[in-house]
Amino acid sequence: MAETAQGAATQEEKEYSEAQIAVHWKEEEYYPPPEEMAKQANAGDKAILERFAPERFPDCFNDYAEMLTWDKPWDTVLDASDPPFFKWWVGGRLNACTNCVDRHLESRGDRNALIWVPELEDDETQEITYADLHRRVNEFAALLRDFCKVEPQDRVTFHLPMVPELPVSMLACARLGVIHSEVFGGFSGTACGQRMADAKSSILVTMDSYYRSGKLIDHKAKADEAIEAARKDGIEVDKVLVWRRIPGEYHSESEMVQGRDFFIDELLGDYRGQDVEPESMAAEDTLFLMYTSGTTGRPKGAQHTIGGYLAYVTGTSKYYQDIHPDDVYWCFADIGWITGHSYIVYGPLALGTTSVMYEGLPTYPDAGRPWRIAEKLGVDIFHTAPTTIRMLRKVGPDEPEKYDYHFKTMTTVGEPIEPDVWRWYYKVVGKERAAITDTWWMTETGGFLGSTLPGLQPMKPGSCGPACLGIQLVILDEDGNEIPKGTGKAGRICVRNPWPGRMLTVWGQDDRFIDTYYAKYSDQNSKEWGDWPFMCGDGAVQADDGYFRILGRIDDVINVAGHRLGTKELESAAIEVDEIAEAAAVPVVDETRGKIVEMYVSVKPGHEASDEVAQKVSQQIVKDIGAIARPKNVWVVPDMPKTRSGKIMRRVIAGISNFADVGDTSTLANPEVVDEIREQVQSAKREKGEVPQDLSAKEKEEIATYGESSE
Ligand code: WTA
Repeated sequence: MAETAQGAATQEEKEYSEAQIAVHWKEEEYYPPPEEMAKQANAGDKAILERFAPERFPDCFNDYAEMLTWDKPWDTVLDASDPPFFKWWVGGRLNACTNCVDRHLESRGDRNALIWVPELEDDETQEITYADLHRRVNEFAALLRDFCKVEPQDRVTFHLPMVPELPVSMLACARLGVIHSEVFGGFSGTACGQRMADAKSSILVTMDSYYRSGKLIDHKAKADEAIEAARKDGIEVDKVLVWRRIPGEYHSESEMVQGRDFFIDELLGDYRGQDVEPESMAAEDTLFLMYTSGTTGRPKGAQHTIGGYLAYVTGTSKYYQDIHPDDVYWCFADIGWITGHSYIVYGPLALGTTSVMYEGLPTYPDAGRPWRIAEKLGVDIFHTAPTTIRMLRKVGPDEPEKYDYHFKTMTTVGEPIEPDVWRWYYKVVGKERAAITDTWWMTETGGFLGSTLPGLQPMKPGSCGPACLGIQLVILDEDGNEIPKGTGKAGRICVRNPWPGRMLTVWGQDDRFIDTYYAKYSDQNSKEWGDWPFMCGDGAVQADDGYFRILGRIDDVINVAGHRLGTKELESAAIEVDEIAEAAAVPVVDETRGKIVEMYVSVKPGHEASDEVAQKVSQQIVKDIGAIARPKNVWVVPDMPKTRSGKIMRRVIAGISNFADVGDTSTLANPEVVDEIREQVQSAKREKGEVPQDLSAKEKEEIATYGESSE
């Protein structure tokens, strides 16, 4: 089991440094790539593995860059002179919008770029050809340029749901060289405003409303909160541009503020038919920011480049998603997350394929919906997250077989997938004819890091596969030693080499970029890229065959249904409630969502524990972050279990919430509270019928080490 830290480490340090755990699991069986799929695969010849061998680094990645159209060729493939701020294809110039739209006009202008499926099944599906997309993007770009007076590399924030206006807005910014920053539509207005302030962005693009679960939801109301939150953080929002979900109608309680809020459809009248010359941008200029959660409260803006990022998502879309121009590709994710940016918009459109977008819930109006969409549109590549797969299996295990569709490849992304769920996906959804790629990566990495090539490498349920082409993955122990494959030992998974999809930095926080991803293992005085392994934040194990099994986050991030929530963000929201003295967030294993959040709070002297206080905490979290972060339970406890130095032992309460072992409590300053809290929490959970089924070995380990990197 746990290995202890060496030498003179104090007990305290041992608690922090635990990431090297022996992991035992059953090795799963291999599934070969389906023959029919393999025959037509973009990566169908083993020679590709040689072309991307480590000795071909960095030039191997030119294979990806050459998939793009450049205004000016690059002088240097990789400028690694100032680690870790690596720059790709320096001297090269290009425009991301030209690459995703204009260059397809001649050969495929009348082919669908996007197919948008509204949530209401009787509403009409929108087919948007490359020519239509070109028109819509140019008109909106003209509006941004002339009405909003944006300049290249200014930031424009979007708070948009899953509507075609979102990719249109993204591509319009890309055309102008403007940096877009989309905040997931499900996030609260406050979260959006804080991100606007961080990006120093004074223009917000939003929508009045959208459908969720068959109902039109007021969304513009969140813009008012966003403006408030941005103002608190020192940014005045000049303009709020509002798309309308139903043309000509307005479905929001929020009033349009004169001189600040504008309906885009009204303004667009002045820009009809206008063409906007695409800005020729430097490869290392910024395409977009994508905010993600980290160890401290302030969200991190992952800053992605135009050349490196676009090349990387295009190359990986081609080889790992196996996208051909004539495919109908459906990535069932939200564009508000990195998956949607990389693998609904930029990668697929750069390849000139048809990318399907769906507005609503997977199970609306019933569990057959996704398969009806697939059948009707002839989808042949399907991409979604384990949480969706689990949900669809739970509510409609026999639905897929009722529909006549044929997937050649299917992807899973966002969380580890249980082998059992994987098999259902393979047999029932894929009808044993589709290759599955379990793609492991993160916001910061731009694109996939670990996966099988669908036409070449066998699949193994529960393992993402080997490192992706050109990526040198390594697992390091706490002292920075490499853990050899096949030892069954877990450690922190890192990327040894620079790669083009990696974010350039954390927006406005270079030091934080180094601290978060490099400080632990890098030699900060070195100018050699080899001394700068990128620490991904996940624990992992590598089997004998070189395949990686991802164990989940080691840092303070809870992955709820594939969405990353920072424990610090949750805790700071809870502490905003007047009565609250202390707060701790813990993950609880959940059958469909993977993990859910439970909060532990204690009240300040003079206040009483009550349901009302618990309610307030829950509401504050929804207000600050969004409904996805709503805790399953808020436990108001007499005291938190703490070390003698006052650190909250999150693994102890995580153990209680999950009915798991709480581990060693001998180092606690107040061990007596453990039994008290256990009694309070577990009896309430028993009453509510929230006792989890047996946890897997992996889940037990994750809980036993939860929160060890905090503070
Ligand atoms: C987790 C989503 C196991 C992982 C693309 C990572 C996965 C975090 C997988 C990033 C996978 C993503 N198997 N775990 N195939 N894909 N993860 O930034 O813990 O929203 O660190 O990016 O999701 O989440 P993010």
